[in-house]
Amino acid sequence: MSLTTSALLLSAAALVHALPPSVPLHLDKGFWFGDFTVGQQTFTLPIDTGSFAILIEQGKYLPSPTSQQTNLSEFIQFNGASEDGTGPAEETPSFVLDDVTFAGVTVSKFLVGNITVGDPLPGDGVAGFSPPASDFSGGDPTQSSGQGLIETLCDSGVVSPCQFGLTLGKDGNGTFIFGEMDTSKISGEVTTVPTTPRDSWTVRNTSEADSPLLVVDGKSFGQIRAGFDSGSPNIIGPLDQVRTILQSVGYNISQQTDDSGITVALGTYDCSRAPARFGFSFPPSSAIHYIDAGANVLNRTADGKICTANVLGTSTVGPADWSIGQTWFQGRYVQHDLDNNTISFADLAE
Ligand SMILES: *[C@@H]1O[C@H](CO)[C@@H](O)[C@H](O)[C@H]1NC(C)=O
Ligand SMILES: *[C@@H]1O[C@H](CO)[C@@H](O)[C@H](O)[C@H]1NC(C)=O
Ligand SMILES: *[C@@H]1O[C@H](CO)[C@@H](O)[C@H](O)[C@H]1NC(C)=O
Ligand SMILES: *[C@@H]1O[C@H](CO)[C@@H](O)[C@H](O)[C@H]1NC(C)=O
Ligand SMILES: *[C@@H]1O[C@H](CO)[C@@H](O)[C@H](O)[C@H]1NC(C)=O
Ligand SMILES: *[C@@H]1O[C@H](CO)[C@@H](O)[C@H](O)[C@H]1NC(C)=O
Ligand SMILES: *[C@@H]1O[C@H](CO)[C@@H](O)[C@H](O)[C@H]1NC(C)=O
Repeated sequence: MSLTTSALLLSAAALVHALPPSVPLHLDKGFWFGDFTVGQQTFTLPIDTGSFAILIEQGKYLPSPTSQQTNLSEFIQFNGASEDGTGPAEETPSFVLDDVTFAGVTVSKFLVGNITVGDPLPGDGVAGFSPPASDFSGGDPTQSSGQGLIETLCDSGVVSPCQFGLTLGKDGNGTFIFGEMDTSKISGEVTTVPTTPRDSWTVRNTSEADSPLLVVDGKSFGQIRAGFDSGSPNIIGPLDQVRTILQSVGYNISQQTDDSGITVALGTYDCSRAPARFGFSFPPSSAIHYIDAGANVLNRTADGKICTANVLGTSTVGPADWSIGQTWFQGRYVQHDLDNNTISFADLAE
């Protein structure tokens, strides 16, 4: 999920066990879930590199002997909070200090967002793994962006170097791996791109010429601003550009405008034709990194005849702003480096 709006506050981290090499994740309706223990409860949360904090859906988070209230809260808006990417979500969490366990490591007194008013979220909420959040509090000491789990584990020395990898398979099984890239799991070349140090894993460019290119079936659709986001269920781009591209490959457009004036468009096509393949290229390399064919389809009608493509156009994003969602991650090892602000990726070994 990507943030449309959102103070970094770190609390002392007390850590218990050693890290296991990897944590299993599974795909369900467009999101990759892992298990997190908060207080005395276990929550299944989507791994979201597009947001920062750990938030628990309204009504689910119960007080425990370890939970302590704070006077911190925030208001946050997400894009792409539903399986087809259309769902916007507005959330008001109040932060609670509690014990959080992920991958066998426990951090005590971690700021967890207890959503008091909010729209439905996938699973039990969201687990953010973005770079550090900017201070959106406007100086209000009761406003906070929460706390980043990866940042906390790095600051306390538990994760070193400050990196994590996601290996999201084509079969719905994946892993979350702390630390350096496990090169035994990859095949072929590793591509590394510079990314922004705050808020999102957005590709950093110094000129228009070194910004990423959107490529569909070998044809370039120009330079874009691209953010990698494991918590976006599909590829998301600007309404007009997505419409133009989907029409140019012969898809029918299905468009909707909701009560708040947000317009979204998806493309449908005859499942018997070859689907258009979306990919990205990261200069100076001219290699095109396509989405796995199996991940290109959002759904098909019961008779198997009409397919909806897994690419969403929305009026909520700026011109040339694209979100490279989980469909692109499938079949790849994607490594996130918070020390050097880079993303590296390679094909997963078969
Ligand atoms: C979370 O907020 C609800 C009210 O919305 C409250 O009943 C519940 O006790 C809170 N949970 C924690 C852990 O503070
Ligand atoms: C609570 O909020 C006030 C501002 O209203 C702030 O000055 C104070 O430090 C906060 N207290 C705690 C325990 O966070
Ligand atoms: C995913 O992994 C589980 C075991 O962890 C296995 O039972 C299942 O078959 C795997 N799914 C696929 C689609 O391979
Ligand atoms: C980065 O690329 C985008 C998209 O091509 C462009 O609009 C922007 O001006 C570029 N940034 C810089 C610093 O040149
Ligand atoms: C596309 O639209 C045309 C004209 O309305 C219609 O005949 C056709 O069945 C549609 N195809 C798909 C795959 O939606
Ligand atoms: C496919 O997904 C789109 C977007 O959510 C939805 O409008 C459509 O009804 C779905 N089609 C089928 C056959 O499930
Ligand atoms: C990345 O950052 C680490 C410090 O954590 C530094 O030792 C290393 O040389 C950097 N690597 C690259 C490729 O810049």
